[in-house]
Amino acid sequence: MLCRALRTLASIFFIRSHLSLKPVLVAFVLAKLHLGSQKDQLVLHVWMCMYLIPEKRGSELSLTLSEVVEDLASVVDNHPQEREVYTSEKLGSDETGDGTAEKPFKSVLEALRQTDGKEPLPNIFVDGKEEGKKYEPLAKAQMKKQKKIWQSEANKAADKAKRDDEDAERREKNLEEARKVVLTQDPALPTPKQIKIRAGVKTRSVRVKVYGWVHRLRRQGKNLMFLVLRDGTGFLQCVLSDILCQSYDALTLSTEAAVCLFGEINVVPEGKTLVGSSPPGGADNLLNEEAHVDVQLDNRHMMIRGENTTKVLKMRSVVMHCFREHYFDRGYYEVTPPTLVQTQVEGGSTLFKLPYFGEEAYLTQSSQLYLETAIPAMGDVFCIASSYRAETSRTRRHLSEYTHIEGECSFISFDNLLERLEDLVCDVVDRVLKSPYANIVYELNPDIPEAPERKMTDQIGEPILLCKFPTEIKSFYMLRCEDDRRLTESVDLLMPSVGEIIGGSMRIWQYEELMEGFKREGIDPTNYYWYTDQRKYGTCPHGGYGLGLERFLCWILNRYHIREVCLYPRFVDRCRP
Ligand code: 4AD
Repeated sequence: MLCRALRTLASIFFIRSHLSLKPVLVAFVLAKLHLGSQKDQLVLHVWMCMYLIPEKRGSELSLTLSEVVEDLASVVDNHPQEREVYTSEKLGSDETGDGTAEKPFKSVLEALRQTDGKEPLPNIFVDGKEEGKKYEPLAKAQMKKQKKIWQSEANKAADKAKRDDEDAERREKNLEEARKVVLTQDPALPTPKQIKIRAGVKTRSVRVKVYGWVHRLRRQGKNLMFLVLRDGTGFLQCVLSDILCQSYDALTLSTEAAVCLFGEINVVPEGKTLVGSSPPGGADNLLNEEAHVDVQLDNRHMMIRGENTTKVLKMRSVVMHCFREHYFDRGYYEVTPPTLVQTQVEGGSTLFKLPYFGEEAYLTQSSQLYLETAIPAMGDVFCIASSYRAETSRTRRHLSEYTHIEGECSFISFDNLLERLEDLVCDVVDRVLKSPYANIVYELNPDIPEAPERKMTDQIGEPILLCKFPTEIKSFYMLRCEDDRRLTESVDLLMPSVGEIIGGSMRIWQYEELMEGFKREGIDPTNYYWYTDQRKYGTCPHGGYGLGLERFLCWILNRYHIREVCLYPRFVDRCRP
């Protein structure tokens, strides 16, 4: 115990002198041990020649050991041990560092911020300049400079916090007042006609009621608010004035709130009701333009409300509609095949497997095999369905779930198939550009060919039909070329800047040849009986293709990344929201 007391005393001496808190004047400590007494009755005679207890200077103190220990402990507690904080420009991080030598901060400024201004400031270490020396103390001049910056930063933060508090107080007062404002409909006014924004032009000077989301919001003074209302059919600029801006709902209104507005289009609006509020700060709480791409994807439900994304998603709908129109116009029937399957189409490496009531099943890679079985029933058929690929490649062209537009045509030749592809793409582009939404395409993609009817050419920089791939690199079902059995009657359509958007082929339509295909690819045909039966019961020459809708959209809308054209994209490591 005595030793501990002396050690503690020595450490105070060390602390005091080292920290230069005051001139430490512990000159020496004389301890006379009265050995032989009871342990805790030991009396320590300390001759104080120090300013610690000035009035006792020069006197001799008689304290029990426990008193000494207690006193010294309290002195030690009030003088925290000196701290060391490490920083490293090379290896540190201001976000994840904790200031230890193992996890240093990056900047000296962050090390100072972490002190919260508490004196004494820690000893700060920076990267050592000498070889083999990891850290060295921060130079005094540097410390001075950094302290100045930190001080001015701290002052600014304090000023801002003060202003924020004042603002919050003022706002609270205003809200209190606003709660007293009650908006009522004027019974003298005509009953409003509920409209969608797209009908706004026809209902000018009529009192209308419009539901929508606050797309943009700007306040001007206390008595004027400008907002752009969005309802999916268009945008409407609205002006609210006077009391309409002073209600609680008006004061707390944020972008993306759902509202119902009453008024006359082009005439001063007359009323507003908040239907569903949005938190203060609006959608900016969740993301803004600088948000990291993962944050944007996590908040896709908000992203899709943005003007550009809305345009892209609307065009997705328009393009799908044009594909359907094309097929119906050309006499195809639409089918809806299952997507939970027990057969593969495009190779086992991209199959998503799942347990299915005690059996193994897959998410379909392509509906082609089902379409083939449908042609004897309905003739030419098409489908628009999800296909799944367990693609591990993270490219701007690959999704793990995508919308597959597939067509299958009976009694055609390979040349006919190529003509059908050309007709499909040209006709769909034509329809899109003749639709009332063509302006969106031109806006998003000013380079879209001026004459959509222009036929595909095989020049580089134009769409390319790449034909007759070798058998070994293609699927089991592809028909071999008559004139060269090493090749298949297959085709990929490549588009500038996007690459392959369509893959198609003629199908093996003779039973024995198909069995050879299964054998070559090492696939057991048992599960494919419903597919192979087609070759036994009234087989016919036929062919078809699959088009990736998202890749087509990237091309026609000039989007760089495939995720931009999906409502909720699915790819490696992303299966939400
Ligand atoms: O070339 P693929 O693999 O062909 C088939 O699936 C055939 N069974 C289709 C058929 O003949 N009915 O795929 C066809 C198209 C590709 O050209 C591409 O546009 C798209 O599907 N695609 C993908 N799109 C996005 N992400 C992926 N991981 C895709 N894989 C294929």
